[in-house]
Amino acid sequence: MKISFAAAASGDAIAVPAYDKAEFSDAAKALDSASGGALTRAVARSRFEGGVGDVLVVTAPAGVDADRVVLYGLGKAGDVSASIFERAAGHVIKALLTSGAETLSFTVDGDDGDVAARAGLGARLAAYRFDKYRTKLADSKKPSLAGVEIVSGDPGAAQTAWESWGPVADGADIARDLVMEAPNVLGPENYAKQVKDLARLGLEIEVLGEKDMTKLGMGALLGVGQGSVQESQLVVMKWTGGAKDEQPVCFVGKGVTFDTGGISLKPGLGMDEMKGDMGGSAAVVGLMAALAGRKAKVNAVGVIGLVENMPDGNAQRPGDIVTSMSGQTIEILNTDAEGRLVLADALWYAQKEFDPKFIIDLATLTGAILISLGQEHAGIFSNDDELAGRLFDAGKASDETVWRLPLGPEYDRQIDSPIADMKNLGEGRNAGSITAAQFLQRFVNEKPWVHIDIAGVGMNSKSKDPRQPLFGTGFGVRLLDRLVRDHYEG
Ligand code: BES
Ligand code: MN
Ligand code: ZN
Repeated sequence: MKISFAAAASGDAIAVPAYDKAEFSDAAKALDSASGGALTRAVARSRFEGGVGDVLVVTAPAGVDADRVVLYGLGKAGDVSASIFERAAGHVIKALLTSGAETLSFTVDGDDGDVAARAGLGARLAAYRFDKYRTKLADSKKPSLAGVEIVSGDPGAAQTAWESWGPVADGADIARDLVMEAPNVLGPENYAKQVKDLARLGLEIEVLGEKDMTKLGMGALLGVGQGSVQESQLVVMKWTGGAKDEQPVCFVGKGVTFDTGGISLKPGLGMDEMKGDMGGSAAVVGLMAALAGRKAKVNAVGVIGLVENMPDGNAQRPGDIVTSMSGQTIEILNTDAEGRLVLADALWYAQKEFDPKFIIDLATLTGAILISLGQEHAGIFSNDDELAGRLFDAGKASDETVWRLPLGPEYDRQIDSPIADMKNLGEGRNAGSITAAQFLQRFVNEKPWVHIDIAGVGMNSKSKDPRQPLFGTGFGVRLLDRLVRDHYEG
């Protein structure tokens, strides 16, 4: 969907804002009087109250050229922010996407370029669809809306701001497409190939295969993939937008293209969702695409470990002991606790190879994080209060929110093994997300590090946020773009 910016509305649908208690904005007042009070009458006969998420569509009102006049809510005038315009635009798009309307003029209040651009972002995020396998979708069910024009007092400023937000929408779309894709199509090899195509954005991309990883001693990652007919891959993406000698920021992602559990096989019910077990890696790919697309003034490295966790005659067994790239040995007690094994080598590689400023990893790591936080927050774990605080703030600003959980030696003891340096399982089910994070911490040394467990938010078939599609949300792209934007550029 195309986003443009203008000073006056020209679309076949025109959306205008209202505030709490259905108080009309100036743009709404103007349309109301042009239509002989159609908006006032519609509000009086509906439950529209002007809250965020309230949308009222008036079709074919007399007195105006537009086919549809849409009133949308922003809530209390004093609380309005760029995020609220972003969310409200999402709601309007949801109401119009397949309505028959082809062009929408979405009017924001004021002349703030960032507000207008964020409305554009909300529109793009909400317009996302994954229809590539639907060969029989009726025309009447297909999206009709092809373009959204954001109307504001300063379209020039909005267009300039959009240069940095459009690529964030593109990055979220890339992450979502990867998560939605079927696991027979998106195995590690095809995934790596698709990432390579992003070189067109100016990313430098390197793919390591099993031979390279064997040489590096990545026994933890390789053990997870050894039951798959697909070759495991480690993909490195570099964006150099900062000074040559500047330390990079670094993002690492879990990319299990399908998680059957391996020999510790998962139950069948809902197993299909484990095609999304590469959501952490998808966020890293989407983020790197966003940073490159908006030419961020930062050096950034993305590292993703791509494996398929399958049961097989050659698959890893419970009881196996593997040696990670760090030299530390791991007793495998459950082959379904595989994400931490992939990340162990990817994290070690990233810090050894790039000596980054910090490392942030994202992973659909534990079912336990859903027990702790549901699907409303991602869980974060960190050895660095400043970085964790910045990420928390970035979560608030991007509406991809995170909540910090503790680490500590008491938990760490749970992953000691009597016969190897550690085991890949805690004692019992309690604190499962924390023991998983403790495991990862053994592979990051003293670097500032945050682990983000996105098992709940990376795949979400129940999301009520209009900016998120069902299932593959692309969570992490906006969060981490925001972190970089606010603290690590220039
Ligand atoms: N990929 C899963 C975690 C997961 C669960 C993601 C539900 C999304 C939704 C992970 O590899 C896993 O299987 N974790 C196990 C760990 C356990 C064996 C210690 C879990 O959470 O049950
Ligand atoms: Mn698993
Ligand atoms: Zn997994």
